[in-house]
Amino acid sequence: ANAARAPQDLAGCHVVVSAGGTREPIDPVRWIGNRSTGRQGLALAEAARARGARVTLVAANLEIAGAQAAADDVVSVESTAQLRDAVRAAGASADVVVMAAAVADFRPAAPSEAKIKKAPGRGPAPIELVENPDILAGLVRERLREGQVVVGFAAETGDASGSVLDHGRAKALRKGADLLAVNAVGAGRGFGTPDNEVWVLDAAGEQVAYATGSKRQVADALWDAVAKLRG
Ligand code: CTP
Ligand code: CA
Repeated sequence: ANAARAPQDLAGCHVVVSAGGTREPIDPVRWIGNRSTGRQGLALAEAARARGARVTLVAANLEIAGAQAAADDVVSVESTAQLRDAVRAAGASADVVVMAAAVADFRPAAPSEAKIKKAPGRGPAPIELVENPDILAGLVRERLREGQVVVGFAAETGDASGSVLDHGRAKALRKGADLLAVNAVGAGRGFGTPDNEVWVLDAAGEQVAYATGSKRQVADALWDAVAKLRG
């Protein structure tokens, strides 16, 4: 919003932000997808740009306008395989990579080249799924560039085994990203809504920031944490 007053603490930085949600083809006309619209990712791109970064946005099936205006470069992708290739290509020269996209955990093992038809008298055929590569884990493991800061997002709901934050802490330890932004989803929270509530955890699961408000405010809180980490 007010670029003139934003701190220029990301000047000279190349940041890559993935946004939206991946789609895995079942056949030429159908896919398995998720409810991510890309709002938080777009807000991250806009905020980084206002703070002086050069931004590459890897856009997976965004359901909102504004991608071209939010970033210096936009790479549009659909599937997880495409997202992975685009993030890794741009990430090779990036100071920061933020995986805000909702990535499909599984994909159909063998998408049909022809539209799947109903078979009269028979029920639906099962769709065999295989697990997708974990893009974030690959970035953490391989470190495409020395000193690169890798940031993940985790959309969580609380359940019988723990709260949103409990699940977030466990994920931070499991993923090993430099920062993990944990947000509460479900029942009118998170997806498709203008506002967000986020805890930012470090690789040890310790809380380094908490932010609630617009997705832009949450984005700026996350960039504050990134800038602090970069020193
Ligand atoms: N992610 C990824 N590649 C995947 C799955 C997830 O890079 N195949 C990234 C997401 O972009 C996000 C982070 O990992 O930044 C956490 O995603 P999430 O779905 O919360 O974690 P999972 O490890 O898939 O755990 P689960 O879905 O079982 O909670
Ligand atoms: Ca997942």
